[in-house]
Amino acid sequence: MSKSKPATQLKAETKTNTHKIIAKQDLASNIKQIQVLAPEIAQKAKAGQFVILRVHEDSERIPLTLVTWDNDGTITLIFQEVGYSTIELGKLTVGDEILNIAGPLGKPSEIKNYGKVAVVCGGVGTAAAYPIAKALKEAGSTVISIIGARNQQLLLLEEEMAKVSDEFFISTDDGSKGHKGFVSDVLKTLIDKNYGFATVYAIGPPIMMKVASDVTRPYKIKTIVSLNPIMVDGMGMCGACRVAVANQTKFACVDGPEFDAHQVDFKELMQRLKGYVPEEKSIIQHLNPLGGKCTCHQH
Ligand code: FES
Repeated sequence: MSKSKPATQLKAETKTNTHKIIAKQDLASNIKQIQVLAPEIAQKAKAGQFVILRVHEDSERIPLTLVTWDNDGTITLIFQEVGYSTIELGKLTVGDEILNIAGPLGKPSEIKNYGKVAVVCGGVGTAAAYPIAKALKEAGSTVISIIGARNQQLLLLEEEMAKVSDEFFISTDDGSKGHKGFVSDVLKTLIDKNYGFATVYAIGPPIMMKVASDVTRPYKIKTIVSLNPIMVDGMGMCGACRVAVANQTKFACVDGPEFDAHQVDFKELMQRLKGYVPEEKSIIQHLNPLGGKCTCHQH
């Protein structure tokens, strides 16, 4: 039987588990990238997985997709400041430590040579799509990427996505770069041009994933989405991340985050995501009474 450890030793162990930020970059308005020391996660991470972090003792848990992980023991995370917790995270600078990071969590993506795959992504969903596109390419798939955002300034990881894609398309809502309109328009055009996609990955705001899956449904193209419901424990215990898939309750943190898009109840997902918006708005208003426009697609 193991003996309990003295308090001083426990404290020292907790200290070594903290995660120092070693690089930070502003990618766009309210969107930041951090590189964090997390060797135990970097060793095990696979495409499609995520982490849940807490900035300090009183913080909420923030689920974030793993964007990259490296042999030097670092992981890269990208987040949009949309609520109190992500604003707190955004205030940290190089040298600061994040209290704890749990992960890697969730089932990894099924990576193989699918033939021709479309990777369709929007907003910060591009951060989640990048490691998947990269892994698919390395597995021999032909990767056609379509990335989108509201405008040119909000496009993420353009160079990185282009590098791992056989063909690469951009769309912006306002037409400031690439196609004027939505990623789903480009997807539909390519399908109608007989691109012959075996699989489509769609990752982004729920409405974007819903529309992309509506585009592929009549063509019976296998479509995978990575869902981003509210998460708390990340271990299948709290039920916060429940989603309806094929009329069954699934937990995105342990059963997902990837699901068959054509089986997902997007209406319920979007309703549940809206549940916390009034509270978040009032906290943000309290923190920043002069205002400040939220750039996410859900408010
Ligand atoms: S986050 Fe609690 S069950 Fe998934």
